[in-house]
Amino acid sequence: MLIAGNWKMHKGPGQTAEFCRAFLGELEDIGEVDIVVSPPFTSLQAAVEALDGSAVAVYAQNVHWEREGAYTGEISAEMLQAHGVAGAIVGHSERRQYFGETDETTARRAYAASEAGLGVIACVGETLEEREAGETEAVLRRQVEAIAAAIPSPDSALRIAYEPVWAIGTGKTATPETAQEAHAFIRSVYPAGQILYGGSVKPDNAEELLAQPGVDGALVGGASLDVESFSTICRTAARLSRS
Ligand code: PGA
Repeated sequence: MLIAGNWKMHKGPGQTAEFCRAFLGELEDIGEVDIVVSPPFTSLQAAVEALDGSAVAVYAQNVHWEREGAYTGEISAEMLQAHGVAGAIVGHSERRQYFGETDETTARRAYAASEAGLGVIACVGETLEEREAGETEAVLRRQVEAIAAAIPSPDSALRIAYEPVWAIGTGKTATPETAQEAHAFIRSVYPAGQILYGGSVKPDNAEELLAQPGVDGALVGGASLDVESFSTICRTAARLSRS
């Protein structure tokens, strides 16, 4: 089970260090769970330093496919590794929606990151419009196949995060059945690796979502910004892993 916190464009270095110190104090009961925090680029170093020697890994929120070059505003896998960063999220729906990220660029980022030895959380998910038009499976198939084509062999460093776009930051969570259905479909397209659920995961719905067969963890946005709610979700995951 993996619980990853996607901080998006929140927390500077000072707040990051403060969060990490407080969060480490909560880790006692959550040893069974893999935990990732994903701060903005400029706070990665603060997170790596504060979490040094702990079991919590630090991921970036994006990564470019070239090692270096004329790519204004981008950061390479090697640059992340030089800071002790262990992985990256790619293809988040906010990148796809607002910054022109496509299946192809997502796949290229995922491939480059995994080749460099970084862990990868590759995000997929349908919009409300696509769901209502009955296109959920076609969209998921297209998105997952693009990633699978880039990383065809079973690669334990790759996790797919199913994040229905209509559930992100809206307070609307997929029902456990909807999440489970989508996870089963994704697994039929890409049988290897863990599949995380994301979209308004909170302390009070984490248990029913994480208990679903085929749900191997969560990608948590808003609720990962607060030490208490994030550690509660991690603790729930640990309890489920033990049982
Ligand atoms: P949310 O975000 O938990 O705030 O809905 C999830 C995500 O975007 O990864």
